[in-house]
Formats: sequence, C-alpha cells, structure tokens
Amino acid sequence: MTVRAALRGIGHYLPERIVENSEFEAWVDTSDEWIRARSGIERRHFAADGELTSDLAIKAAEAALSDAGMTGDQIDAVIVATSTPDTTFPAVATIVQSALGITKGFAFDVQAVCAGFVFAMANADALILSGQAKRVLVIGAETFSRIMNWQDRTTCVLFGDGAGAVVLEAQEGTGGPEDAGILATDLNSDGRYRDLLYVDGGVSSTQSAGVLVMQGKEVFRHAVEKLAQTADTALEKAGLTADDVAWVVPHQANSRIITKTAQKMGVPMERVVLTVQNHGNTSAASIPLALSVANEGGKFAPGDLLVMEAIGGGLAWGAVVLRL
Ligand code: UT7
Repeated sequence: MTVRAALRGIGHYLPERIVENSEFEAWVDTSDEWIRARSGIERRHFAADGELTSDLAIKAAEAALSDAGMTGDQIDAVIVATSTPDTTFPAVATIVQSALGITKGFAFDVQAVCAGFVFAMANADALILSGQAKRVLVIGAETFSRIMNWQDRTTCVLFGDGAGAVVLEAQEGTGGPEDAGILATDLNSDGRYRDLLYVDGGVSSTQSAGVLVMQGKEVFRHAVEKLAQTADTALEKAGLTADDVAWVVPHQANSRIITKTAQKMGVPMERVVLTVQNHGNTSAASIPLALSVANEGGKFAPGDLLVMEAIGGGLAWGAVVLRL
C-alpha cells in the first residue's frame, strides 16, 4: 500500500479592483498594445488599501474547504506560499490557521517566490507521505502591488494580487502512475542567478520592504529552458510522458513563455490553462488561481493528469504531477 496526497478541494479569491492595461498609460510610458503583445496580460487585480495577503489567503482557503466539503478542524497543516507576508513574522499561515478556527497541527510559510506554490505542494506531499499530516491546506497568496516600483515600466505592468488554495488528503494508492493524487515532484534552485529577480530591501539589509527589480529578458531565457525540463523530469519520475497529460497548469507570468514551454513539452495549447490575461503575474498565487478558475470552468474530469510548473526569483523552479 502506498499513501498518496489526493486533491479534495480547490478555491480562489481575487480582490475587487480590476486594473486594465490602459490605466498604466497615465503614469509610465507604456501602452495596452505593448503589454498584451509582450506578456499576454490584459488586466490584473489589486488589493484595496488595508487588504492584506492573509485576507486573500483566508478567502481562498474558505473556498477550497467548502469545495472539499470540509471544515477547518479537519486540517492538520496549513502551508502558505508567499513572498509578500503581512509582516516579517509570524507566518501568514498562522493567521489563516487562527481565522479558520484551527488550534491543532501546525502552520508555516514557504518562500520560493513564483515557484512557491510548487515548493509548498512538494512539502505538503512529503508531510502526507511521511505520516506527519493527513489533511493539508496549501495556499498561494500574494499582494505584489505592494512591492512595485511604479516608475519602472518594465515591471510594474506585469504583476497582480490574488490567492488560490487546495486541500490535499492522504489516500491509499497502488504506487503506480494510475493512482489519484500527487505522483511526482521536482524542485530546483540556483542562487547564482539571484540578481536576475529580487526585491531591493528587507529586514536585515534596509529594514524596509523594498521594490521588485527584474532583468526580464534573462529571466525569460531561463524560464523557457528550465520549465519544460522540470516538467519532463517530474513526468519521468512518475513513469509518464507528455502524451499522458490532460492539462498543463503553468505559472502565469507571460503567455509567450507558456506557449514556448508547451511546445517544448509537446503539449498542444488546447491542453494548457491560460489565465495570465486576466490576473497578470500573481507569483505564488498564479498556479492555484489558474487551477481554481479552470475547475470552476468545468475543464477538469476525474482521472485527468495535471502538470504544474513554475519558475521565479532565486532562481527557483519546479513541477508537480498530480492525477485528479
Ligand atoms: O514570475 C517570475 C518569472 N518572471 C518572468 O517569467 C518574466 C520574464 N520576462 C518577461 O516576461 C519579458 O522579458 C518581459 C515581458 C518582462 C519583457 O519582454 P521582452 O520581450 O523581453 O522585452 P524587452 O525587455 O526586451 O524590452 C523590449 C523593449 C525595450 O525597449 P528598447 O530597449 O528595445 O528600446 C524596453 O525598454 O520594450 C521596452 N519596454 C516597454 N515598452 C513599453 C519595456 N517595458 C515596456 C513597457 N511598455 N511596459
């Protein structure tokens, strides 16, 4: 008998305020046409003043629990992937935990920037497989609008706010690739590339939050090279190939990266979930947001094989292979 981390519920939350590309034309030298052509982004959501990452995370978590037909007291562990926590500490996960009325188990944050949700899923899988938790709430939640340099047209038009969440539960499997649940994960990072995408402030250095700095072209080049690689590796670990994939659920940073990665994997775009046009890049929230929107749109069927892949600051990148 093998234990698998099976997907029980999916949910998301997007802040009310929608910002169209054209709004940026008022304060930086850009255009709706450029943003659409170079990134695929048309609009994004921004959190309201006083609306915190934990607020978004809690709403997404409630939606995922409701989809799973569960209540907070059934959850043993809460993991939040975020690079934009409410405060330096405690972990956003503990704020979510208490808002959901959970007083047992444990809660912690994972910081792997845009790859955060994939890293959090791999952590949740390991906790379930080792018997330390039976039901884990995994959340990706971000308020990247708080770390934008509004004078930098090369970055401020790309990011958005939001949160997505899933509930994973231990379930018996055969150990084969036909099982439901997480079948394989692949995690990577290479700190030599940390200057390609970073925030220029922090507790220990400047005692302030800082703003995002990115060498977009270089990150683009690494993304195209590394994403298909990690997805293929994860599929190979699961004993599967791209032909078995029903849906790729990629990190939503740039539609050109998503298309090139799908081409390299040999998966047609009809089998790729694309939400970047409506959400922008929401970092660790982007994959669970895409999952939830696709789920609500009725795209998924039981038994479907999903591949999630992401890359972000660090650089950190990875993939999760999961059967519904
Ligand atoms: O989520 C973490 C991972 N992040 C990513 O995956 C992001 C990866 N990178 C990208 O998505 C793309 O590199 C960008 C969308 C950021 C940029 O697209 P690009 O095709 O690489 O454009 P570029 O940086 O080469 O810029 C082309 C031109 C430049 O002008 P010159 O030097 O050719 O005269 C830029 O100054 O476009 C200019 N430009 C803009 N023009 C209008 C840059 N930003 C803008 C803008 N509006 N917002």
